[in-house]
Amino acid sequence: METKLLGGSSADVSAAAELIKNGFVVGIPTETVYGLGADALNEQAVTAVFAAKCRPADNPLIVHIADFSQAVNYARDIPELAYKLAEKFCPGPLTMILPKKDIIPSVTSGGLDTVGIRVPSHEVMHRIIVESGCPIAAPSANLSGLPSPTCAIHVMDDMNGRIAAVLDGGSSEYGVESTVISFEGEDTVRILRPGAVTREMLLEVCREVNIDPAVLKELDAEAVAASPGMKYVHYSPKAKVVVVEGNTADFKKFVSQNSGENVYSLIYGMESDDFEYNYMTYGDTAEEQAHFLFQRLRELDDAGAEIVYVRTPSKEGVGLAVYNRLIRAAGFEVIRV
Ligand code: TXA
Ligand code: MG
Repeated sequence: METKLLGGSSADVSAAAELIKNGFVVGIPTETVYGLGADALNEQAVTAVFAAKCRPADNPLIVHIADFSQAVNYARDIPELAYKLAEKFCPGPLTMILPKKDIIPSVTSGGLDTVGIRVPSHEVMHRIIVESGCPIAAPSANLSGLPSPTCAIHVMDDMNGRIAAVLDGGSSEYGVESTVISFEGEDTVRILRPGAVTREMLLEVCREVNIDPAVLKELDAEAVAASPGMKYVHYSPKAKVVVVEGNTADFKKFVSQNSGENVYSLIYGMESDDFEYNYMTYGDTAEEQAHFLFQRLRELDDAGAEIVYVRTPSKEGVGLAVYNRLIRAAGFEVIRV
């Protein structure tokens, strides 16, 4: 299959919407990361998404809609708290897990009786949903296991020849995938995957916000993951990634003792001035680190890195999402210096 690269013109957006309406899979921009979009109600189209990504069939897809008022078409027993959260955070990088209606095919929900609903804020994505007239199932547009794509070229790198088209909508604003939450009683939610809607932000609306144990550590082999995606190896470049916890001085000392030709460090921008070993930077603030993380993991592979030591991010705010992705990229190899 030839994969067309579409631009951001009105005609191109309409072409992408038309392809999705007709059952094809298209790489589409969102404010978090790029997605592989298909009509969420079309079993064949959704099956093609799983095939293009080589994704395990038990890992459900998020369903993207244009406005949260449409959630009732796909989900039942929607709690009042979901509407309060939607008022504050939709459109935006928040996915709410809700009991699904029968109209959502079992392939889309990975066999679960729930569905993740998200209202993306990216204008192009919004127009594609409206013009296609479909709720759009979209996982991140990477091959399963690789870092999520934050620009159209990354999607092409993984998906050229595997899907109908990729629509270039510029670089993704946040750079990490949406916050995924489930509901636990009237005014409590649980974060299954941290993102740019942070725990602190959710606490403005919810009385309690629990963090699922799978967010910060590896699940035991026999544990059932609340969010199936959390049990798979993820976000991994070819290079071996190691997260190094400690301050700048200790990090530098560690790298000096472990440097080598294809050994790289991923460090804060402000630490680069007198850094004497191979390195790339991923920003100073948690927001910058989220924005650059996946791009840098891909660039480190292109540079031929075999080992990457990552200076650990802060776990505050969106930093929790950065840390959550990094420990998975590292296969949970975290060392303290
Ligand atoms: O920002 C995002 O969420 C991006 C963009 C494209 O919207 N999408 C995305 O999809 O990251 P994906 O499939 O790569 O990750 C979805 C995560 C997976 O970990 C999956 O297991 C979880 O959400 N998930 C989806 N539906 C679920 C459900 N019904 N119950 C529990 N977890 C669910
Ligand atoms: Mg993904």
